[in-house]
Amino acid sequence: MPVLPPWVSDPAGASAREIVPLYWIMFGAAAVVLAIVLGALVWSGIRYRERPGVTAQQVHGNNVLELAWTVIPTIMVVTFSILSFQRLLVLNDVDTGADMTVKVHARQWSFGFEYPPSYKDALFTTSDGKALLAAEELHIPVGAKVKLEITSQDVIHSFWIPNLGGKKDAVPGRTTYLSLQADRAGTFKGQCFEFCGDGHADMLLIVVAHPPSEYATWAKSAVEEFNRSIDPATAKGRELFLSLACAGCHTVKGTPANGKVGPELTHIAKDPNHKLPGSVGTVNAANLHRWIKDPQKEKPGTLMPTLGLDDATIDQIVNWLLTLK
Ligand code: CUA
Repeated sequence: MPVLPPWVSDPAGASAREIVPLYWIMFGAAAVVLAIVLGALVWSGIRYRERPGVTAQQVHGNNVLELAWTVIPTIMVVTFSILSFQRLLVLNDVDTGADMTVKVHARQWSFGFEYPPSYKDALFTTSDGKALLAAEELHIPVGAKVKLEITSQDVIHSFWIPNLGGKKDAVPGRTTYLSLQADRAGTFKGQCFEFCGDGHADMLLIVVAHPPSEYATWAKSAVEEFNRSIDPATAKGRELFLSLACAGCHTVKGTPANGKVGPELTHIAKDPNHKLPGSVGTVNAANLHRWIKDPQKEKPGTLMPTLGLDDATIDQIVNWLLTLK
């Protein structure tokens, strides 16, 4: 386990690099104070311990000591405040040199990311004419300074990717701003950092930084995936899933379905070799149909009830499930 926090041991962006020197200054000062206080405690404990025939000298008031432990901490607190404020001025300047703006919508319990209509040759306009709105993962180009406009639909959440810098609260009815910039390609993980209810621990955050030359390709595939999810051919299945009992037990991030009883289905169709319960087999249309039709027959005793849905309804739900990649 690394001893140092991620933004110090592995800073991967401009904000993290801004924070590191301040971290060391405060850490160093705290270490010196700890050493002095503990040292004085141990030394005086030995030096002035009770011994036969020795009476401790009784002291009442000592101007030098009183002044020292008032003035030194005051100087330290003021210095740290000035240094922190100066760093905050840099970190909170999200506009200077900003390349693109992404809106972050937090809600119980996922983060949604709304992209601009386009960024350079990456196009984010989907088939419904709106800009791409995707859940869970934020994709950014390496090097770009991305301005985040953060809001919340319900309670206070907090956005934090430790390797990339500081955190910022998502507050209902307000917009807060954070700047995100990654020095290198990679996946950076984070977590909602404000307790926000039952699902708080599951409210993960993933930032994927792409080499700039690959960003447009990613955008194209993300838009295609989104278009599939709002395709009229599968929209009915989505509606059925959300209105039937399914949504009460399963979570599909980016939709109102946030049940915790059954497995999460956000990426059910991502891996075609993924096994369905019992002896149903891997994820495909026929197997999903068989499972939803009569789970109790396929795996007796499973928590999933046999809902008695007709074949046409099941097919529509399966069509939609297969878009969850
Ligand atoms: Cu959202 Cu904790």
